[in-house]
Amino acid sequence: MKRTRSGDSTDTIWETAEGAAEDDLEEETRGTKEETVFRKLGLLVAKKWGAKGSEKRPTVTQEELQKHSSEEDFWVMINGMVFDMGPFLRDEAKHPGGKAILMRQLELTGSDAGARFVRWHNAAGNAVRRAPEYFVGDLLGWTPPKKWRLCCCRRRSVPEEVL
Ligand code: HEM
Repeated sequence: MKRTRSGDSTDTIWETAEGAAEDDLEEETRGTKEETVFRKLGLLVAKKWGAKGSEKRPTVTQEELQKHSSEEDFWVMINGMVFDMGPFLRDEAKHPGGKAILMRQLELTGSDAGARFVRWHNAAGNAVRRAPEYFVGDLLGWTPPKKWRLCCCRRRSVPEEVL
């Protein structure tokens, strides 16, 4: 039986929506899709690896991240968290979205896959549930990008914290 970096089996049943009943009771769906997906992903990674900044939770440097950018060994960063796509690329685990999309990611915006992760998955799907198995660590020195929203005059964008 093949195993991921975190020791979980990769013989996953991708067809089944896991924890759906739990989600229906607890899932918080307010905010944008991006906020919802990132919040859920963050919660599930913390459940498996501990809170961000805690001792047992691993970290990754920018240099380390850049070293893993080949067709067989590709790490992506999603909202400050680094995930190993290698098992999918080496056919050790099955990615339902296929391999080509991951290779396109490498060509398009490199390791920063947050926007495309949000585009192709949703908070209630299996992707966010499976992602913690592929977690490598938090990217050191990463800060969330500033969010811009339309001002009440609807004519200009201002940083979110101003509103
Ligand atoms: C930890 C990383 C990832 C995991 C665990 C994962 C897992 C999954 C899963 C389970 C699905 C089936 C749909 C669902 O249940 O949400 C899926 C679909 C898909 N994923 Fe991923 N994925 C990951 C990263 C990525 C990345 C980085 C990209 C793009 C750059 C991507 C692109 C896609 C696409 C295109 C689909 C098909 C969506 C559709 O047919 O509607 N995935 N992925």
